[in-house]
Amino acid sequence: MLQQEDFWDNKWSNNQTGWDIGYASPAIVDYFEKYDQKDAKILIPGCGNAHEALALLALGYRNITLLDIATTAVEHLKNKFQNSENISIIKGDFFQHQEQYDIIIEQTFFCAIPTNWRENYVTQAYNLLRENGKIVGLLFNTEFEKQGPPFGGNTSEYMELFQNKFDVNIMETCYNSIAPRSGKELFVNLTKK
Ligand SMILES: C[S@@+](CC[C@H](N)C(=O)[O-])C[C@H]1O[C@@H](n2cnc3c(N)ncnc32)[C@H](O)[C@@H]1O
Repeated sequence: MLQQEDFWDNKWSNNQTGWDIGYASPAIVDYFEKYDQKDAKILIPGCGNAHEALALLALGYRNITLLDIATTAVEHLKNKFQNSENISIIKGDFFQHQEQYDIIIEQTFFCAIPTNWRENYVTQAYNLLRENGKIVGLLFNTEFEKQGPPFGGNTSEYMELFQNKFDVNIMETCYNSIAPRSGKELFVNLTKK
């Protein structure tokens, strides 16, 4: 895991953060605008610059945990959210993290992990969620030409992965992706079984 930590910290230190869209993903903001449990305990793993967290704060969410493995990313976050009592920031590995949440937000974290860890992602997300907890967010529905990360995938692969541990409420082409990702993302809403 040290290898992963170094890999990601190098990316951050060298400003190789091409994944960062610069603002919260509209599909995620749209979902949380309509969601009414503002006191939900929310985890954003592999949060990077955590633009979604700023949007959630503006919407009135009060219990948001940001988790990233890269020291440099976490330093930025501590600076960015220093006055926010509604945000907890943890430098750590998602796969080692122990806590209980109502919602895990997925925004380009799943695609960042090696594909042979995907089953571990599903198990760990399951373990981190309370009863009826949910994963909400976006998964890529495309393959990438270059060697990942990001690593792509498709609906049938994700169905196969998630369906034993999660009820798949929504897994469909995202209608409000940002333009460069249009048609290449699935919006997912998965409830822990
Ligand atoms: C592709 S970036 C996405 C960042 C952010 N979600 C975004 O969309 O801008 C993946 C992030 O996951 C973090 N990361 C990678 N492996 C991790 C792990 N095992 N636990 C926690 N964070 C991890 C990296 O440091 C990086 O910030």
